[in-house]
Amino acid sequence: MKWWRDAVIYQVYPRSFADSDGDGIGDLPGIISRLGHLAALGVDAVWLSPFYPSPQADAGYDVADYRDVDPIFGRLADADKLIASAHSLGLRVIVDLVPNHTSAQHPWFQAALAAAPGSRERDRYVFRDGRADGSPPNSWQSVFGGDAWSQLPDGQWYLHLFDAGQPDLNWDNPEVRAEFEDILRFWLDRGVDGFRVDVAHGLVKQADLADWHLPMVPLTSEGTEGGPRPPMWDQDGVHEIYRRWRKILDGYEGERILVAEAWVQPAERLAAYVRPDEMHQAFNFEYLEASWTAAAQRSVISRSLAASAAVGAPTTWVLSNHDVIRHASRLGLPVGTPRPNGIGAGDKQPDAGLGLRRARAATLLMLALPGSAYLYQGEELGLPEHTTLPDSSRQDPTWFRTHGASVGRDGCRVPVPWEADAPSYGFGPSDRSWLPQPAVFGELALDRQVGVPGSTYSLYVSALRLRRELGLGAGELAWVGGPDDVVAFSNGDLLVLTNFGSAAAELPEGAEVLLSSEPVNGRSVPTDVTVWARLS
Ligand code: NOJ
Repeated sequence: MKWWRDAVIYQVYPRSFADSDGDGIGDLPGIISRLGHLAALGVDAVWLSPFYPSPQADAGYDVADYRDVDPIFGRLADADKLIASAHSLGLRVIVDLVPNHTSAQHPWFQAALAAAPGSRERDRYVFRDGRADGSPPNSWQSVFGGDAWSQLPDGQWYLHLFDAGQPDLNWDNPEVRAEFEDILRFWLDRGVDGFRVDVAHGLVKQADLADWHLPMVPLTSEGTEGGPRPPMWDQDGVHEIYRRWRKILDGYEGERILVAEAWVQPAERLAAYVRPDEMHQAFNFEYLEASWTAAAQRSVISRSLAASAAVGAPTTWVLSNHDVIRHASRLGLPVGTPRPNGIGAGDKQPDAGLGLRRARAATLLMLALPGSAYLYQGEELGLPEHTTLPDSSRQDPTWFRTHGASVGRDGCRVPVPWEADAPSYGFGPSDRSWLPQPAVFGELALDRQVGVPGSTYSLYVSALRLRRELGLGAGELAWVGGPDDVVAFSNGDLLVLTNFGSAAAELPEGAEVLLSSEPVNGRSVPTDVTVWARLS
């Protein structure tokens, strides 16, 4: 069995994981010092969000040099040390690759600015003349709000599907292709086990850059199922790039992997990214977005398993990451609420108790599913979104580009609390933290949860241990019939049951409870609880 087919992969957001030098921003030495936590938790791999030199216009997703480490995060030698330390603990390392755009400070873009329209330097990006009336070349909007084009003093415009500091590369240009193949080799040679590929569905644009008038949903714009496909996403030509990359990875020892961040629907189109000669995995955002109802969960699980099975890839599962409201808060919003892009102090606040209860149930359900699962730092502590961040501390470009209409993603990026009674809750040696931590982070700090029966941390440790012992990631799901508002399935000898209904659900006679997201009494499973049970 290939390691990645059932791996549990833990996302570290370097700015917010652990700060070694007290400047209030997490760094690679900080991560190294906390790798033991990941080994103790029981995950298989760590995925690091970008740590490359960057002006940080989008928290590092604006890369100015793909082959180095930003001084705020450390040095290249720290990256090497991190990879070696992780490997010595049995953890694999996946790094983030950002190929859709560079930073505006990247030497290529600086050269393009200095060069003339029509030059070789400008051809590495998407430069165009505006329309006769002086408006941008087309109607595309940035995912972060506002026009997707910015104009230079010489009159030409450049495309940026994200921030103006993130110019889109021109993937029809062979120099761009060659450069990224070289960047892959650079990190493969340093020993990384794989790449999470940012905006994997965006590299190739429809050649005519046709206008697009439907709204750009934050980070996604798949169009409607069966409707027209947006000209900036999921173009067929993108697959050829990944087939080339796969060949490069296959030339290295060990199973190195490519993971697509592709907000693509339906599941069958997403599955195209993980055909046998392309990437290994793709994030399952349809699962993340599914409502907290039995029908929605059953349906997304079935569709996901079928779509990936059709191409022989493992299904993946994810509930939280650095772009979405943490699931402990998201699930505390009324069922069916469309996922907001952040929650601010003026917005209706989630029900924290209900959110955490459902989050624990959701996680236990997820970790019993066959395939590979992604965890986001801090979810093992049950961290909620920071929903009352002061506007003055916000840094997400979405907040600025929408003029405050969308609060954006800062609330899920708040530094992790390790010790309840330390400055910055043990995030670093000083009381500095690039985003303020809410008071509740004290109660949820790791040292308040380790060894505490019933804590969210203990639940994750037990679930990950059992998942491994029972081989759940490599198992097979079979639905078990029952009431409509109960999701029940078997995976090997394990019965998994989540109760979405308002009345208690009953486990079958003889079922022995191995683990539950909340305490259960006998065979009765309360509302919003998941149980793992062994059938005798
Ligand atoms: C997806 C990343 O996860 C997100 O954080 C980033 O803003 C965009 N891609 C643009 O790189």
